[in-house]
Amino acid sequence: MTLHAIVPAAGIGSRMRATLPKQYLPLAGTSVIEQTLKRLLQVRGVGNILVAISESDTYWPGLGISSHRRIQKVNGGRERADSVLNGLRVLRQKADDNDWVLVHDAARPCVRVTEIEQLIETCSSRGEGGLLATPVHDTMKRSDNANRILETVPRDNLWHACTPQIFRLGELTEAIVTALESGYPVTDEASAMEQAGQHPLLVECSSSNIKITRPDDLALAEFYLGSE
Ligand code: CTP
Ligand code: MG
Repeated sequence: MTLHAIVPAAGIGSRMRATLPKQYLPLAGTSVIEQTLKRLLQVRGVGNILVAISESDTYWPGLGISSHRRIQKVNGGRERADSVLNGLRVLRQKADDNDWVLVHDAARPCVRVTEIEQLIETCSSRGEGGLLATPVHDTMKRSDNANRILETVPRDNLWHACTPQIFRLGELTEAIVTALESGYPVTDEASAMEQAGQHPLLVECSSSNIKITRPDDLALAEFYLGSE
């Protein structure tokens, strides 16, 4: 199988409230994005990695990893889905629509290489797309806009969707284009595939695969990386 990777890294990290985009914040001696890319580079079967970088980003060229022979920069877009779509379009110029694409957030530096390999193996052997995910353990509540509980949502069969997510290049591109055109919110690749009538496979991963989102998450990521 041929496998490509796309890393959306064109966000500004507004919830992090830092002076630079969260993917460039220091983590375990390097930075968030370098930790993430280092892991992806170790995954068996992954060819080139396309990293979506904002056109106004001045930090990326300063990282040594930006000149790695297997890493290529593509332009990011307005939303995460636009960044991923730009990567898919660049890939499509030279790759086959049946090739597999792994999409992984730059902001998830703690993902385990073995778990990514497990995802690839499970999905490619079944010929189905899928994603890493963790089961929900807390009691879930839905509220009104004033934060008053409307209902308890049964947590059976509820999952947190993580990345990587793996799909075939042609199908994923078509699904995202169609979903965006119809105004459907595409917060991850799976949601676009669902909209296209697919039922992607959830592959359980460790809860250490956090997305760095708020200030506290950085210390947690440091802890997870240090305890491996
Ligand atoms: N991302 C992207 N292009 C965008 C927005 C986000 O490539 N236009 C990337 C981010 O860089 C991140 C991943 O998508 O690696 C997940 O998005 P998120 O955690 O929401 O990051 P930000 O959008 O940067 O953070 P925030 O929503 O707090 O501003
Ligand atoms: Mg965002």
